[in-house]
Amino acid sequence: MIDEKEYIKRRKDLMSMMHINSIAVISAASEKVRSKDTFYPYKQNVNLTYLSGFQEPESVLVLIPGREEGQVILFCRERDPLREVWDGFRVGPAAAIKKYDLDDAFPISDIDDILPNLIEGKDRLYYAIGKDPDFDKRILDWVNHVKSQRGNGALPPGEFMDLDHFMNEMRLIKNAAETGVIKKAAQISVEAHKRAMTFCQPGIYEYELQAEIEHQFNKSGASGPAYTSIVGGGKNACVLHYIENKDILKDGDLVLIDAGCEYENYAADITRTFPVNGKFSTQQAAIYDIVLEALEQAIEVTQPGAPYNVTNETTIKVITEGLVNLGLLQGEVTDLITSEAHREFYMHGAGHWLGMDVHDVGDYKIDGEWRVYEPGMVVTIEPGIYISEHNMRVEEKWRGIGVRIEDDIMITKTGNKNLTSGVPKSRKAIEELMIKI
Ligand code: GLY
Ligand code: MN
Ligand code: MN
Repeated sequence: MIDEKEYIKRRKDLMSMMHINSIAVISAASEKVRSKDTFYPYKQNVNLTYLSGFQEPESVLVLIPGREEGQVILFCRERDPLREVWDGFRVGPAAAIKKYDLDDAFPISDIDDILPNLIEGKDRLYYAIGKDPDFDKRILDWVNHVKSQRGNGALPPGEFMDLDHFMNEMRLIKNAAETGVIKKAAQISVEAHKRAMTFCQPGIYEYELQAEIEHQFNKSGASGPAYTSIVGGGKNACVLHYIENKDILKDGDLVLIDAGCEYENYAADITRTFPVNGKFSTQQAAIYDIVLEALEQAIEVTQPGAPYNVTNETTIKVITEGLVNLGLLQGEVTDLITSEAHREFYMHGAGHWLGMDVHDVGDYKIDGEWRVYEPGMVVTIEPGIYISEHNMRVEEKWRGIGVRIEDDIMITKTGNKNLTSGVPKSRKAIEELMIKI
């Protein structure tokens, strides 16, 4: 669990990196209309959550390191009994101070009067430059307000810095509290995948497996899926972001499920591919075993001190060799790797950082060089082979097979830990789980 102490520490760490005599401004996400007067479920700006846990829209967090009257200030909605009957509880500025360990809080309706005074005289202003055009404009309005007071001696900030650069680096390395929550997200998602595998049989619809998965997420305390669940039977598995999930699952086909929950604002991201009827065909088994070997070898090399790209390169090598052995690629493996021949069948990278965003923040290269794995990083590894139903270069028996297998790997001081190994992935373990008595 991420508690108040953790939020205080994060704000302190960020402020210790900020320039002397500076200010950071972090805005809430805006609410998005879904249909007429109804909204999408609200998703807070992840950086505001990271620094405070505050979940209400129409709020702005301000950090001013070294300010004697208070360094941590929140602008938020006032209590409003009428609106609260319709939309739910609002904490209000007075109670927010205590609940979120702030130094001060004001009604959001007062921000235009108060914030320019807080900005005035600061050398540097940090915010998420260019992420939200409306917020960019509000920042400029506040700064211009300070400029307009120049005649009275007011000094606008001379430098603007992208806050995300600092936030991304902080968020990339997860501490013990965070890895605890990610493990829980992973564990819930493991149970959900096992449930879907057990439930699967020919003749049901893709959306039924989605329902099994998401039922398990919600009944386990997750807020829901961390991204739209992908359930693709047969050739639908070859559409990387297939989310229609509307087709019938056929005897003899594989089904690919890519789904992970969001638990206490942290994501899991798991893919498994298995036979709808519980038994792999010869061709499916051949493709599956290459992808599994690629995943296992890639997990092996994903170690503290290793460069990030070693994971991707390992998957490419194993997949290229495997496709040559099956006759799906022709030529020398080294030449095929150089010419990136695998891209016909494996057209995405081996994974991404995982955290509060499913495709989490953090640079993959530093000064043009691949960054090195460090303890506390969490990464997905997700090789795949997708043979288009339209690929006339391969024999018909291979067409329409799509396989991806994805695990969530935490880098530790001494190696790594697979957080999602609980979902079966050897063919034998899958077939055993799926056997119907
Ligand atoms: N679920 C999206 C991904 O695997 O990257
Ligand atoms: Mn995924
Ligand atoms: Mn992924």
